[in-house]
Amino acid sequence: MKIFLSAKPTLQKNKAVVVCFFNDKERTAASPHSFFKTLPAKDASYLADVMKHDFTTSQEKFREVHFPSNPDHLVVFANLGKKDSWDEKKWALFVRKAVVYMKDRRIPSFSVFLGDFAARALSPEYLLKTLGENALMADSTFSKFKEAPKEGWPVIKDFEIISPDAKSAKLAEALKSGITIGEEVNACRELSNMPGSDMTPRVLANAARRIGKRAKIKVTVLEENAMKKLGMGGVLGVSKGSDEKPQFIILEYKSPKANKKTKPLVFAGKGVTFDTGGLNIKPGEHMYEMHMDMAGGAAVMHALAAIARMKLPVHIIGLVPAVENMPSGSSYHPGDILKTITGKTIEVLNTDAEGRVILADALGYAQRFNPKLILSVATLTGAAVVAVGQKVIALFSTSEKLEFLMREVGKVSGDAVWPLPMGDEYLDEVKGTFGDVANVGKSKYGGATAGAIFLKQFVGNFPFVHLDIAPTMTTIEGQYLAKGASGSGVRFLVELAKNVNKIP
Ligand code: BES
Ligand code: MN
Ligand code: ZN
Repeated sequence: MKIFLSAKPTLQKNKAVVVCFFNDKERTAASPHSFFKTLPAKDASYLADVMKHDFTTSQEKFREVHFPSNPDHLVVFANLGKKDSWDEKKWALFVRKAVVYMKDRRIPSFSVFLGDFAARALSPEYLLKTLGENALMADSTFSKFKEAPKEGWPVIKDFEIISPDAKSAKLAEALKSGITIGEEVNACRELSNMPGSDMTPRVLANAARRIGKRAKIKVTVLEENAMKKLGMGGVLGVSKGSDEKPQFIILEYKSPKANKKTKPLVFAGKGVTFDTGGLNIKPGEHMYEMHMDMAGGAAVMHALAAIARMKLPVHIIGLVPAVENMPSGSSYHPGDILKTITGKTIEVLNTDAEGRVILADALGYAQRFNPKLILSVATLTGAAVVAVGQKVIALFSTSEKLEFLMREVGKVSGDAVWPLPMGDEYLDEVKGTFGDVANVGKSKYGGATAGAIFLKQFVGNFPFVHLDIAPTMTTIEGQYLAKGASGSGVRFLVELAKNVNKIP
């Protein structure tokens, strides 16, 4: 899909022009859309009549109208509902819905008027960024392993955004950033959607190397021996049961414009390429979709790619411990005690709580960069899904100021987050009996917090944020996104990188 700005609609055969209106008083048949003024009188009056009628029909539906003078040209009316209820979320959903609609109808090109969405405090730059990003997200499907239908997959060739300021460099820049983010979110979804047998730790490491070349990021991959030397007993322990060797992926992006005095941010992403549970094997349907258990790692990789392509003035390190969690004669056992890079030992009570075990080493390693902030992204617990449902990421922060900033970042980025507790009063939960830290909480309640408080013990005194993205791992109905991985976390991390100076 080509997404571009134009000053005027460049109508061709089979191209739809989407005319949007808020169901408020401003746009009535008496003060028609500026587009109508450019049309032959016959078409204009016909469209105005239809639109008049449409005010009375239900909200937020699309209505297709062909021009009387030329039935190949069409207008799609979109009633946006009430102007004062229009917000970031509705805007993103509208764009996705439009793309899905055009694809369903096999309409290959369409135009929208940017001015139609002028509501509340959403700037044109914000609208354009969101538009580029969400149009691409809605367009993407995971059809690599499927035969195309006879007519081919539906494609949208071009998406035109009409604005009198089409030549503005600021607007072009905003749209470009949205396109970059949308592409990286989709690439992240593609990685997470790959079946477990096709996406092993080695394949994930190779994907990181390719990102490094393409986005000009430094990528280093530590093999088993290097991990042994560093004392990464957590990663090594979890990977023992698999024929696939563990990989510890390190990505670094440092802009020459990064403030020399500002310390780097470290993003650590869980890279479990398949989670069977290990010897505490997952029952029945619980193993379904566990090929996406590297979604946090993929989010870190593609967020760094987007940040580098956007040339943000920051210094960021991405760490992705990649393993496969398998049951076998060489698996780690419940009761095993693993020594991590920090020297702290982990008492393994359940081999299915593997994400926190590999992240312990990543977080310990993160401390070496003397970072301004350490952040982990992981499909860590089913308990987080139980707690918050599937619409927000569960957020854990070491301070209220951090939490406040993260909530703002979540809202603006489109990757919504909601806070859960990680205070020291929960430390007893994961106190080990024979090792320093137990990998499962003592009580059967608050499992997402138990995971977070476990991780917190491996970041030293550095400010720390943990995103449990198990809730948002897959898309759900009503999001106008194809089934499968959602790419959760990419947009959040990019927006956070834009706000480094606000980190307390
Ligand atoms: N990868 C899972 C968590 C998960 C569950 C992600 C569902 C996405 C959807 C994680 O490794 C896991 O198995 N967690 C256990 C922890 C428990 C053993 C303490 C869980 O949530 O059941
Ligand atoms: Mn698990
Ligand atoms: Zn897992």
